[in-house]
Formats: sequence, C-alpha cells, structure tokens
Amino acid sequence: MNFTAKSSNPLTLTTQCLVAAIYEDGSLPTLTAALDKASRKAISKLVSKGDISGKKGESLLLQKQDGIRAQRILLVGAGKAKELDAKAFSALMTSTGKILEKYGFADAALAIADLPVKDLNAVRKGELVARNLMTLIYRYTATKARVAKSKMPSRIAAILSDSKERTALAKGLVTGAAVGNGMNIARQLGNLPGNICTPTYLGEQAHQLAAKNRSLLKTKVLTEAQMKKLGMHSLLSVGKGSDEPSALIIMEYRGASATTRPDILVGKGITFDSGGISLKPGAAMDEMKYDMCGAASVLGVMTALCELKPRINVVGVIASAENMPSGCANKPGDIVTSMSKQTIEILNTDAEGRLVLCDALTYIDRYKPKSVIDIATLTGACIVALGSVVSGMMSNDDKLAETLYQCGQDSLDPCWRLPIWEEYQEQLNSNFADIANIGGPKAGAITAGCFLARFTKSYKWAHLDIAGTAWLQGNAKGATGRPVPLLMEYLLNN
Ligand code: BES
Ligand code: MN
Ligand code: ZN
Repeated sequence: MNFTAKSSNPLTLTTQCLVAAIYEDGSLPTLTAALDKASRKAISKLVSKGDISGKKGESLLLQKQDGIRAQRILLVGAGKAKELDAKAFSALMTSTGKILEKYGFADAALAIADLPVKDLNAVRKGELVARNLMTLIYRYTATKARVAKSKMPSRIAAILSDSKERTALAKGLVTGAAVGNGMNIARQLGNLPGNICTPTYLGEQAHQLAAKNRSLLKTKVLTEAQMKKLGMHSLLSVGKGSDEPSALIIMEYRGASATTRPDILVGKGITFDSGGISLKPGAAMDEMKYDMCGAASVLGVMTALCELKPRINVVGVIASAENMPSGCANKPGDIVTSMSKQTIEILNTDAEGRLVLCDALTYIDRYKPKSVIDIATLTGACIVALGSVVSGMMSNDDKLAETLYQCGQDSLDPCWRLPIWEEYQEQLNSNFADIANIGGPKAGAITAGCFLARFTKSYKWAHLDIAGTAWLQGNAKGATGRPVPLLMEYLLNN
C-alpha cells in the first residue's frame, strides 16, 4: 500500500473514491461542506431526507456528482464532533477501511483525515491512518487454501485543508505504515503453528531480516552448545524435553554511532508451551503456539526499524525454546544454575517463560544498555488481573514506567503498571535454591515480574506481560500485533 499526504482542493482531486464525514447532528466538517456546496447541496439533501445520519458506523456511497471530479463519494458517520478523540478517530479509520475493502477501488482519497481531533496532531493522525489500514490488509494464508486477498485500495491519499500540516501528516503516514507492517509480521509469526514456527525458524527469520538490511542489522544465533559455555542452564533446561533445539537470537540494529548505548528488547519465544511435565489441560492448548508473541513483537519492531532507519541503537533478543514433556524434561523440584549463578528451584515446569528470560536478561548486561524491556506472554494471572485491554507493565525505574505508560496512551496500545514491591519477593523463597520459579496462587503476574527483577538489577528495566493482549480468542482467533505500536512509540520518541 502506498500512502501520500495532500492538501489539494478536494473538488478537483482525481480519485476513484473520496471519503468524507458527516457529524451526528447532521452538520458537515469543512471539506464535506465544500463538497456539498459544489454538488448543489447533494449531501445535505441526503442528510435531511434521512438517507444517512452522521452516527458512527453509518455510510453511504454516492455516484459521481457534477462539480466534483472524484468518481464516487463515500460518506461516513463520524459521531459527535465534540467526542472525536484519538480512539474514535482510530475506530473511524478502521471502519472506513473495512468499507473500502468491500468495494475494491484502485485508490481512495481520505478527506476524513482533515477532521479536527481532540489532542491529535497531524503526525499522529497520519500514523493512525496508515497503521490501521495496513493492519486491515493482513490475511493468514500460509497453511490455508483459497483465502481471498484484501481489496483495499493500493493507493491512499490523506487530505488536509491546511497545507502547513502536510509534511507532518506525511511523516506520520510513513511511521504508521512501518508500524502496521511490523504488526503484521508479528501477527504472522504468532499465527504460524508450532510445527512450523520453531526456535530454528525464528532464527532464520532474524537472519533473513539482516540479509535484507546489511548496513543496519547484524544477527547472530547462539546454539545450545554456545549457551552451555555461557552457563545458561536455566534457559537450556526448558528445551530439554523437546526435539527442537533452543536458540538465543540476537539482532543488533545500528542507526547511531557505536558509542551510543542501545535500548534492548528481550522477547519470550516459547514456540509451543505444553507446560512440560506440569502439563497444561487440553482445552485451548493449541493457543500456546502464541507463547512466542513477545519474540514476534521484537521481530516486528526490528523490521519496522529497518524500514524507518531512525538514528538510534537497538538490540533485539529472543530467548527461544519449546516446552515439552519427555524423559529428558525438567521435573518439578529440579534445580538449575542460571547464567547469573543464582540457583533456581523449578517447582512448576509450566513457569518456563521466566526461566528462558532470566538468562537472556543476564546476557545483555554486556551491552551496558540504556534501557531494557522484556516482552512476554508470561502469566495467565495477568489476564485475570487486567483482561485483554491493557498489557501488564512492571519496572524497577519509576521514570521508565511513566514513559512507557504515556507511550501506551499515545500509541493507543496501552499498558498499566503493577507493583513489584519487595514485600512480594518472599513468595519466591525456596528451601533448596536461591529462588523458586513460582510464587504461589496470589499475585501471579507480580511474582513473575519479581522473579525477573532479580536478574535485572544493573540497568533500567521494564517487563511487559502481554498474555492478555497478544492474541484474540474465539472466532476471531489470531495474533494482534501488540505491543509493536507501544514499543515503536518508545524507541522513536524517547
Ligand atoms: N505461557 C504461559 C502463560 C499464559 C497462559 C499466557 C495462558 C496466556 C494464556 C506461561 O508459561 C505459564 O504457563 N504460566 C503459568 C505460571 C504458573 C505455573 C505460575 C500460568 O500462568 O499458569
Ligand atoms: Mn508455561
Ligand atoms: Zn509459557
């Protein structure tokens, strides 16, 4: 898809479909009013006859009008002008995109980009336009015959009446398209089944991305033998029961000088989580193919960075293994020594995410990171606490936590902080090791965060628990691409 920002006269635009809004009270936004005048009140007549109201979700396709060059005009309801905020604008973009997909025009021009939106500047508008339309065109096709392609127009123009804002809008469109594409990459990896998307497969994807972006990205994949030499016995223990070799995937994006300290992303990449010997119940176990969505978001972000080429340094790390039961697998009560030398009693083999993450979090200390964010589908308890609206966020640094919260608000990919206070740490006490890998039934998302906190003391760190936000269940089952927007917001603007 190709996005452009324009501030040309909507009456003389050459396009197959011009999209204009109507407010709920029947009043017309600036550009719609101009169309109405040029068409001798064709639009206001339709409104007064009740053919369309400006309620959210309403739409009407008009044939060519004298005085307007566009082949068609698509009218959409924008709701109440006063209530048009970023969320409502985002929803309007998505519902408009779905209508455009149905008609299959070759191009469309969006006069709705000119709507005044509360607290939303032209850059942000552009981001939402491109991101939302980009994510609409994603279809999972890898293992399915005959999936109809999206009929979204391949050329989209966003129209602003104020020509001074055009550059800002254009900038937002570029960012939004890259973020949307990054989300689609994350969704695709998440949706792929565990027998295709293995740790080895994730490593290959990272290598391929580096091959396409030689000057920007370097990838290395540590083998089990290399990890053993580093003392990563916690990470390695998780894959012991699987025939798939584990991998630590490291992607170094360099957009700034070598002396610039990197921001680091660490993704949980369990390509299937059966629970291991602490086997999960059968219902919905297939969804544990999504247990690598943290890793997928890291690959989505690295892809978007290669596209946008910002002048920053970012290291993306993926701790990847398959968690399976077997005669070689971890058993409850087993004790492993992590790379940090802390010993861990594995009381539940299903609390495996923290076991792979802790060694990756120790490994990255060598980069002297500016900040570290891990992203993990870590706990069912996080879904109980926060549902599927916000990701759980925990941090050892108040300023980083505040920044991430704000990035979540600004990118409409929200997260909410949970306390990882000292008082919770005692739940992880073990009689036989330095730390236990579970903290009992209370505050499960928090004790998982507390576990990770013991391995992240030397840098500013935050943990995103995306168990509730990374994929949708039921008929719409599929990966969401979250939290790629939140992470991109953080990396590009901080
Ligand atoms: N990957 C799961 C967490 C999960 C479960 C995410 C369901 C999304 C939906 C994780 O590895 C896990 O199994 N966690 C356990 C931890 C428990 C054993 C302390 C959980 O949440 O039950
Ligand atoms: Mn598990
Ligand atoms: Zn898991």
